[in-house]
Amino acid sequence: MSETTNQKRVLSCIQPSGMLTLGNYLGALKNWPKMQDDFDCIYAVADLHAITVRQEPAKFRQQIYSTCALLLAIGLDPERSILFVQSNVAAHAQLGWVLGCYTQFGELSRMTQFKDKAAKHADNVNLGLFAYPTLMAADILLYRPDFVPVGADQKQHLEIARDIALRFNHIYGDVFTVPEPYIPKAGARIMSLQDPSKKMSKSDENPNAWVAILDSPDDIMRKFKRAVTDSDAKVCVGADKPGINNLIGIYSALTGRTDEQIAAEFEGQGYGVFKQRVGEAVIEELRPVRERYETYIADKGELEAIYRAGAQKAAKFADRTLGKAMRKIGFAF
Ligand code: TRP
Repeated sequence: MSETTNQKRVLSCIQPSGMLTLGNYLGALKNWPKMQDDFDCIYAVADLHAITVRQEPAKFRQQIYSTCALLLAIGLDPERSILFVQSNVAAHAQLGWVLGCYTQFGELSRMTQFKDKAAKHADNVNLGLFAYPTLMAADILLYRPDFVPVGADQKQHLEIARDIALRFNHIYGDVFTVPEPYIPKAGARIMSLQDPSKKMSKSDENPNAWVAILDSPDDIMRKFKRAVTDSDAKVCVGADKPGINNLIGIYSALTGRTDEQIAAEFEGQGYGVFKQRVGEAVIEELRPVRERYETYIADKGELEAIYRAGAQKAAKFADRTLGKAMRKIGFAF
């Protein structure tokens, strides 16, 4: 991506927090490579955010590599887009500090994710966890994106980034672009295969509840065969059929078929056949992703070369915005 196109710009970041699930894939990641056709795209692995909870060093590094390899495997193209690791671009931490000085204690105290995480990790309620939204605001504002794709759980953080940008611009003039949330057309919300009232999550203690993007075909099929359904035995969307609704949602996200088409396709057939077909569709969707992932992760040198080159390109954008903000404040920068 060059610095002078007329395309609108999109920024997306993902934390390197281990296994990504089919829910992450269908809910967000699957859309990311497609955005490259319509926008100038910037993608980052948000490693600085990950240390708000304690990380084991070797595992943490592996997860950063793994997340980069996965982003390449789903089809992000480092020639067309910028793909980098957040900590490699110093401007994020620098602007993060600055924006913290334009963010109120009260605003950050109201963040629901902070309240949830503070309750969950009561022994490690650190400053980083509290200030997390100001770092995220820096990630965003440095690149002046028009759009930021966010799921429901990050909406409040995007809101505060917008508030901070508006406040800063109000004092110093037009420094930051105020980004809009980007809601992709088909962002499926995938539920647990064992308890379809809950979102599919890698932290679920029941491994049959979720499918990892990198799961083997055998594991994927086993999990779909065991998916919780109901006693109705009719493949169609229904108010009291959360398990089947979820499987239909998954099948629909993969095939592009409507609920009605799916109901017609499985008319007169039992849940066994349906679950098998959904399992096969998931396996076929994820097979090329897993294969490409294996190639990328096997060559750490090449992977490093890709994200380092990405950081150099990102820094050009980021440093320009950082410099502007610093000089406006009055720093001799
Ligand atoms: N906080 C986001 C999450 O946990 C990840 C993230 C970090 C992000 N910086 C961002 C998302 C900037 C969008 C824009 O999912």
